[in-house]
Amino acid sequence: TWSTGNIIEEHVQRIREQVGSASVICGLSGGVDSAVAAALVQRAVGDQLTCVFVDHGLLREGEAEQVEQDFVAATGVNLYVAEEKERFLSALAGVTDPEQKRKIIGREFIRSFEAAAEEVAKAAAQEGEPVRFLVQGTLYPDVVESGGGEGAANIKSHHNVGGLPEDLQFELVEPLRTLFKDEVRAVGRELGLPHEIVGRQPFPGPGLGIRIIGEVTEHNLGILRRADAIAREELTRAGLDDEVWQMPVVLLADVRSVGVQGDGRTYGHPIVLRPVSSEDAMTADWSRLPYDLLARISNRITNEVEEVNRVVLDVTSKPPGTIEWE
Ligand code: XMP
Repeated sequence: TWSTGNIIEEHVQRIREQVGSASVICGLSGGVDSAVAAALVQRAVGDQLTCVFVDHGLLREGEAEQVEQDFVAATGVNLYVAEEKERFLSALAGVTDPEQKRKIIGREFIRSFEAAAEEVAKAAAQEGEPVRFLVQGTLYPDVVESGGGEGAANIKSHHNVGGLPEDLQFELVEPLRTLFKDEVRAVGRELGLPHEIVGRQPFPGPGLGIRIIGEVTEHNLGILRRADAIAREELTRAGLDDEVWQMPVVLLADVRSVGVQGDGRTYGHPIVLRPVSSEDAMTADWSRLPYDLLARISNRITNEVEEVNRVVLDVTSKPPGTIEWE
């Protein structure tokens, strides 16, 4: 019978058997999955674990601070922050194809973890021992949609599945690989993680990189980050965070449309709001957000983000649309 406590005990045992006394790193993304995976591994092997937070420059406003505060406060885990913005942005320069972006981001994540692992090994108790294991918060749906499940098509390469380089120097520890999001949340709660972490809306590892339709540049990231912060702030203020599964905010950097502001013509970019409700992200429906909330978000974004002159709402279910646009 299904019991969260059993799942935890079973995984703790398995992790101990797999890892032994070796050092382990875990990539933290700020999301629920990597946080729960890290907490499970910490339960299993304690201080052998160091969490690595890669700041790839594709984060939303306030996200790096949030990981440092919430997760470290809740778990007391060892944290190593890797500043890797240059690495990611230069690798992504000129790239617009979604699968190519995903593969580049997946590869650069691994390169960043390798660099971080060297630093962690230097600081570790058994100095000189390389870090052998990398923990990832891969979920069952990630495996399926990246073409790893039985009979599944490759819909998108999730950054931590389809984007892994072949010469990977780590052995992977993926304790959530058989679980769905709601089960992961239950495990997180049972492990004592606070609601701010466990209840957080999903956010993809590739971050804003796959929410810019077009090239991922510092300039485009700046536009999207400001629009996204406004949308999230208004959703929270409306008290709808728990009702909405997630609300990707997407910048159509390759599209421009004509607008008017004051007496002047504008030729700006559209922002797409993609609020969805879902049980497990395998299917989803578009959320019927209140019109006055949509109006507030639209007004604020077009007033406060100069480069944006239009806000549109995505009213497509999954299927046929996916949740993210890339
Ligand atoms: P799609 O767009 O496939 O998204 O309908 C399903 C869920 O997965 C999230 N997502 C990702 N999460 N790495 C992640 O950690 C990824 O590469 C990735 N791509 C999509 C998406 O936000 C949604 O919750």
